[in-house]
Amino acid sequence: MLLSQSCPPALPPAPEAGTDDRKNQDVSFSLNPKYQDNKMISTNIEKALNAQINAEFWSAYLYLSMSCRFASDNYKGIANWFKIQHREEMDHAYMMIDYLVRRGGKVTLEPIADVPAEWDSPQEAFADTLAHEEKVTSMINALYAAAEAEHDYATRQMLNWYVAEQVEEEDSVHDILDSLKRIGTDATGLYQFDLELAKRVYTAPKAE
Ligand SMILES: [Fe+2]
Repeated sequence: MLLSQSCPPALPPAPEAGTDDRKNQDVSFSLNPKYQDNKMISTNIEKALNAQINAEFWSAYLYLSMSCRFASDNYKGIANWFKIQHREEMDHAYMMIDYLVRRGGKVTLEPIADVPAEWDSPQEAFADTLAHEEKVTSMINALYAAAEAEHDYATRQMLNWYVAEQVEEEDSVHDILDSLKRIGTDATGLYQFDLELAKRVYTAPKAE
């Protein structure tokens, strides 16, 4: 088929100099009309979700710091594991942002606090990881309780994914810490452990 001369379509003619009055038009609109007209989330839950979004970004930053720490010691597998952990935490934040926007809430991105940069051993880093994940679990639980108290069933449903994810997170870090306990300071064991963690691959999360 021959393409007609109108394909691709011609651009509209540019306004003549001095005739473009778009600057004078009324452009009073909201970037998120839902936020003003149909906010489907309470201010309390909105604030709590924004705090959780910040915590997820902080977690991402923490794991990126751990990844860099072990990459510099040539523990490629451990660095890989934490880098994927970092990406997952970014996903957790993005998913919550998407939800908040869909509910007509306002996303407020606060500064991300500093994260530690030094760990003396893989054992220390994974022990910190478990402690951090346990803290995140309690934050998610508190959010869930707040949503329940307000009969906010949509937020509660969204949080179900995070509750299940925390079970996974804690379980996998427990397993890693058990392995590290058996390995102790055995260099060959640590080498094998590093090769094992190099196999971890990133998979995008599937929302419920
Ligand atoms: Fe997370």
